[in-house]
Amino acid sequence: MPVKILIIDDEELFREDLAMLLREKDYDCQTSANAADGLKLVIDFLPDIILSDIVMPDRSGIDILDDIIRIHPDASVIIMTAFGTLETAIQAFRKGAADYILKPLVFEDLLNKINRIWEQKKLIQEIKYLRREITEDINSLPLGSKSNVMQKIIELIKKVAPKNSIVLITGESGTGKELVAKAIHEFSNKKNEPFVAINCSGFQESLLESELFGHVKGAFTGAIIDKEGFFETAGEGTIFLDEISEMPVSLQSKLLRVLEQKEFYPVGGTKILPMKARVIAATNCNLQSHIKSGKFREDLYYRIAVFEIDLPPLRKRFSDIPFLVDFFIHKFNKEMKCHYKGISKDVLQLFMSYDWPGNIRELRNVIERAMILCDGMTITSAGLPAQMKSLTGETNQTQNLKEAVQAFEGSFLKRVLSDCNWNKEEAARRLNINPSTLYRKMAELRIEGPTSSK
Ligand SMILES: Nc1ncnc2c1ncn2[C@@H]1O[C@H](COP(=O)(O)OP(=O)(O)OP(=O)(O)O)[C@@H](O)[C@H]1O
Ligand SMILES: [Mg+2]
Repeated sequence: MPVKILIIDDEELFREDLAMLLREKDYDCQTSANAADGLKLVIDFLPDIILSDIVMPDRSGIDILDDIIRIHPDASVIIMTAFGTLETAIQAFRKGAADYILKPLVFEDLLNKINRIWEQKKLIQEIKYLRREITEDINSLPLGSKSNVMQKIIELIKKVAPKNSIVLITGESGTGKELVAKAIHEFSNKKNEPFVAINCSGFQESLLESELFGHVKGAFTGAIIDKEGFFETAGEGTIFLDEISEMPVSLQSKLLRVLEQKEFYPVGGTKILPMKARVIAATNCNLQSHIKSGKFREDLYYRIAVFEIDLPPLRKRFSDIPFLVDFFIHKFNKEMKCHYKGISKDVLQLFMSYDWPGNIRELRNVIERAMILCDGMTITSAGLPAQMKSLTGETNQTQNLKEAVQAFEGSFLKRVLSDCNWNKEEAARRLNINPSTLYRKMAELRIEGPTSSK
């Protein structure tokens, strides 16, 4: 991408000549005749380098430096001055200008200055990038976070990773189960071996069996060649059995046998194959209730729940939100080539009080969407989906006291219910009301239950 240069100067001939010369040198150049329009272009064009005159009809170049630095701190400003006194230069430097140059310009001098600034910028970027790489070993899998509960989980991951034992990861949808599975793989001595993920839901039993263990030619109609299964593909690496709760019960007993005996037969095969992969399983269901209802084998549960990691929903680790917001802004800045600096205060407040039924996945999507819709600098409520926007003060449609009280009651009850894992008796006890009152209020306020449970 060519270097972007913005020229702010009221002298038309000088401005357009200079732009033409810079364009001939392959710079992407835009111009503005006054400070006000110049500032608008700083936001829209996001220049890398700004050449600003000092004396302009509306405001002085020194004066607008503050605004430029505030709205686009990554830009480097070169002050162009016909009154090349040392004082003006010192003042400009003090305010944060990268350099200054005397008018009339010597074009070669200007090019040298631009080159030097650009080289420095690249160097700083590289250093920042390297520093990130070094400090991000575990954090490169974006698990670094501030909340105590996540710190404990990171400790668990580090402890269990090298042991090769089976791990069961539980947590609502979007809490990062697959990410944790990958982190365990990365921190194990299997990290150079394959990580193979398979979602156990939505397969017919026979198909899932052949996906897992492979089949031999002729094993069933349509098996026209031998097919390797995921356990074989994983080799000595890690096999991630996602949504294990959805595995058909009869296949669960086959899996149990494989885990016990560390070997398996491909469907229709007679040659036994060794099972060397480490197994990590995940579910967003309550396996205990699946056991009670006969949908999950108790013996398999005890075999896989050797080491359980339960990921809390985002609404129970609000202190992670600012970290995650920064993480996603940085990620999408890179991917979408934009320059967001952060989010507005009211959006952060909203994020901290919202329930996040879709957990980190929902937060990630909300930020990505907002970064497409907002001004390129700050995420404001303008970029939020309608249902979230209605929760912010500024667009709150609440008309009267009754509606306001109901809105508060609704979100308060939901918070308490979710803290009690939707156990209504316990929630009623905490709220110091009769369970029947709670049921009535839930019906009145149309509170139905956790959105994410299956
Ligand atoms: N701690 C985290 N830091 C940054 N990103 C995260 C974190 N946890 C999860 N994510 C991101 O959130 C999204 C959802 O994570 P993931 O797919 O691991 O969730 P899951 O628990 O497996 O969800 P599901 O049950 O729906 O399969 C992914 O894009 C993931 O990269
Ligand atoms: Mg998943």
